[in-house]
Amino acid sequence: MTERFASPLLDRCPPSLPPTAYTDPQRFEAERRRIWAREWVPAGRLSDLAPGRMRPVSVAGESVLLVREAEGGRLSAFLNVCRHRNAELCAAEAPVGRLIRCPYHA
Ligand code: FES
Repeated sequence: MTERFASPLLDRCPPSLPPTAYTDPQRFEAERRRIWAREWVPAGRLSDLAPGRMRPVSVAGESVLLVREAEGGRLSAFLNVCRHRNAELCAAEAPVGRLIRCPYHA
């Protein structure tokens, strides 16, 4: 006869998060600051962005601009905001040239 070991997952049901954990904006903001804004977060697959293209993605409530160089295909990520007056740099997937030009004041 084989000996049976008690599994900690089977002898009791661990407490789960309260329902408000999924809907509370304050909890979301705390998680965004403490977890998602501090760690590397997958933003997509490299194969989904062709070389020479750029695309905005949302990461933890921030707009991030993914840019793939035409030559070599190196991937970079930037906040999708102009440093001048916070205009959005890119609203939809587009070709990328030698530089990223802000659409507001160029
Ligand atoms: S807001 Fe981008 S150049 Fe002024």
